[in-house]
Amino acid sequence: MTVVPNDHRLQPINLFEYEKLAKEHLSQMTLDYYSSGAWDEITLRDNCAAFERIKLRPRVLVDVSDVYDGLRLRNLTTSILGQPLQLPLLIAPMAFQCLAHPDGEIATALAAASAGVGMVLSTMATKSIEEVASASDKFPDSLRWFQLYIHKDRGLTRALVEKAYKAGYKALCLTVDAPVLGQRERDRRNEFTLPPHLHLANLATISGLDISHEKGESGLFTYFAQQLNPAVTWDDLEWLQSLSPLPLVIKGILRGDDAIRAVEYGAKAIVVSNHGGRQLDGAIASIDALPEIVAAVDGKVEILLDGGIRRGTDILKALALGAKAVLIGRPVLWGLAVAGQIGVSHVISLLQDELNLGMALSGCAKLQDIDASLLILPRL
Ligand code: GLV
Repeated sequence: MTVVPNDHRLQPINLFEYEKLAKEHLSQMTLDYYSSGAWDEITLRDNCAAFERIKLRPRVLVDVSDVYDGLRLRNLTTSILGQPLQLPLLIAPMAFQCLAHPDGEIATALAAASAGVGMVLSTMATKSIEEVASASDKFPDSLRWFQLYIHKDRGLTRALVEKAYKAGYKALCLTVDAPVLGQRERDRRNEFTLPPHLHLANLATISGLDISHEKGESGLFTYFAQQLNPAVTWDDLEWLQSLSPLPLVIKGILRGDDAIRAVEYGAKAIVVSNHGGRQLDGAIASIDALPEIVAAVDGKVEILLDGGIRRGTDILKALALGAKAVLIGRPVLWGLAVAGQIGVSHVISLLQDELNLGMALSGCAKLQDIDASLLILPRL
């Protein structure tokens, strides 16, 4: 895959190089919006640092010849909520992808579907639920979920759920770590807003809602304060599940007791996440929270994780700790900024290759061989 024509030396060979290159393609306001964490960005950094603290204990003299042909492990297929995936990977919900590339969420969805990985479309997308669905038409089996923010206006929330169901999305992914928006100070300083040609594609059409320019504040922060419902509790999940037959995935769990409640209240999967370090700064790194949640849930539902995945070995570590799959966020935006759909496809294939190699070097011939005995965990 070539994203930089005519000079292979400029071709990114890992996700960090994508991040570096993406900076040349983005305005400062967009770059700050995508890359920011909340307040001092402690959790943002710790999501990655926590993966580095976990050490691997590779098995040796395992025959990996059948699955590793020197380039590609042939079979990394898995499933989430009964839907097949070619890789244990989904694209995390991320707002405003047209800030990175004019094709925005459509490019991301096509790259995900053609690689056989999942895609979660954000409520705050700049392409609509229907546009993304019809662009993905030729991949009828692709795993597409819709991420939901519950608005104060229940009718609006209902309309979003109904649209997602009608358009063939396979699950509702409810974000529960954002009753209000975390304070990202770079966005506040920049008075973050959307350029005039971009809109909240799912909201502007139903309700005329949009991000507006606010003096001294991020327009998104103000939007959340005005429009999202900070009074939502566990008891609202019954109402939410009554709106459609879509299975509920709860994203933003960091504690075992909340994970148990999520299962009791009907969640069919859980995403262990601190929202990429963008909500409560100082919150535990996602990978550090995973073991407690896996133990609490005890196999009752599937567990996914996002936050800090930058290498194939990070995926390996998350799977070894009991995640069924992981979500990646920012690196997809970097791929999108550099080369649209091709860039996102390349980011996915780099991770796939790294996971292949990491597995072979750890003595894992198949995903099922990945277990906790491969890891040494730090003392927290
Ligand atoms: C939106 O959901 C954000 O985290 O910026």
